[in-house]
Amino acid sequence: MGDIRVGVIGVGRGSGFARGAGTHLGMELVALCDTWEEKLQEVGKQFSVTTYTDYDRFLEHDMDAVILANYFHQHAPYAIKALQAGKHVMSETAACSTLAEGVALIEAVEKSGRIYMFAENYPYMVFNQEMRRLHQQGKVGTFMYGEGEYVHSMHPDNTNRISPGVDHWRNWIPATYYCTHALAPIMYITDTRPVWVNAQVITYPKDHLTPKMTAVRHDAASVIVVRMDNGAVAKLLQVSLRGDGVWVRIHGSHGLMENLRTGDSNMVRLVREQYCEERTDPGEQIYRPDFPVHHEEAMRAGHGGGDFFMNYHFAEAIRTGKQPYWDVYRGVACSIVGPLAYRSALKGGDGVAVPDLRKKSERKKYVADEWTPDPARRKRGYPWPSVEGDIKPTARALAYARKVWKSIGYEER
Ligand SMILES: NC(=O)c1ccc[n+]([C@@H]2O[C@H](COP(=O)([O-])OP(=O)(O)OC[C@H]3O[C@@H](n4cnc5c(N)ncnc54)[C@H](O)[C@@H]3O)[C@@H](O)[C@H]2O)c1
Repeated sequence: MGDIRVGVIGVGRGSGFARGAGTHLGMELVALCDTWEEKLQEVGKQFSVTTYTDYDRFLEHDMDAVILANYFHQHAPYAIKALQAGKHVMSETAACSTLAEGVALIEAVEKSGRIYMFAENYPYMVFNQEMRRLHQQGKVGTFMYGEGEYVHSMHPDNTNRISPGVDHWRNWIPATYYCTHALAPIMYITDTRPVWVNAQVITYPKDHLTPKMTAVRHDAASVIVVRMDNGAVAKLLQVSLRGDGVWVRIHGSHGLMENLRTGDSNMVRLVREQYCEERTDPGEQIYRPDFPVHHEEAMRAGHGGGDFFMNYHFAEAIRTGKQPYWDVYRGVACSIVGPLAYRSALKGGDGVAVPDLRKKSERKKYVADEWTPDPARRKRGYPWPSVEGDIKPTARALAYARKVWKSIGYEER
């Protein structure tokens, strides 16, 4: 097999995939697509590849695979189109933004016979890969409780820069939706899947800068409690709280492991209870692990090396014809926790079941479930982006956001 010819849609986050494709792993970047023409031309020149503003025309390009880095809530329909055009697909998070999209995506992958990979990079950070290895070796025993945190603190100027337009998804997706960076590492380390969620959402207090200086109309953060399919419980914390943090903790029947919260967060702390079994090694070990393969290349990649493993596993899956670990079933299971947790939060934290969409019998109930807070798809009975209802940015906040959007060349239509 020659190089895998890939095209990328979305030249923001997508530029990273494009760069990775061009430098290693037998992938060749052949086309880029984005509706923001100015940005597209700039990135297109950098990579010297064909550019498209129209997705359907882009799909006609002679290529084997498509990488989706378009808007967060629009991946499933774009993935389905690419699969129908005979392309392998790797999709940024989320895999789907409604339950109906989850069902449709799974069925499209099954029908196409093509590779689908959910591009969750956080499980591939060095400490998470190490914790998976430790778990598989039985170092902490049976998984009982886990915590996953993805906390991103941002100055309003940065929030505005990455959320251009009143209806940009970053201004309205509910606080539970961006849950996969916190959940996917736990699924990957412990080989478990979510089956049940309870959630609470944290609203912005009056003295917070975000509602004063941005067009944001969702809530700040959420806590999701997830029951996993082995009976363990996990607590997820995401998104916009002060003090950045990417952190994972796993408690097992014989010990605990986590990455360090302070200092070098790539370090792993392993605590093994000496009284659980006879041991001669230390009760606590704190060390900096290496990546299991391609350590040097991964060290140079973004998101703690996690980005390297996206292109790596996608290329491997295409070459071997075997679906990757982050196949469509795990991608959808991880992504639907976002909307299901929002349902829970809107009902004060009531429990909501996470269906196992690998089973055809469970799909029927959700095939028409298009419930979404997306302003472009608004219908009676659909939720608002905030648990407090239809929040409107103040005129002052909107004027401030517009100034920043203008400074980055974004033109409102
Ligand atoms: N895994 C990670 O660490 C990580 C980091 C950043 C972003 N992301 C994900 O990457 C995706 C993109 O995020 P982003 O930060 O680049 O911001 P973004 O969502 O604003 O960028 C999307 C890009 O896609 C283009 N686009 C949207 N619809 C299009 C269409 N129909 N045709 C052609 N182009 C279209 C937009 O013009 C824009 O340039 C999101 O899903 C986000 O969740 C993931």
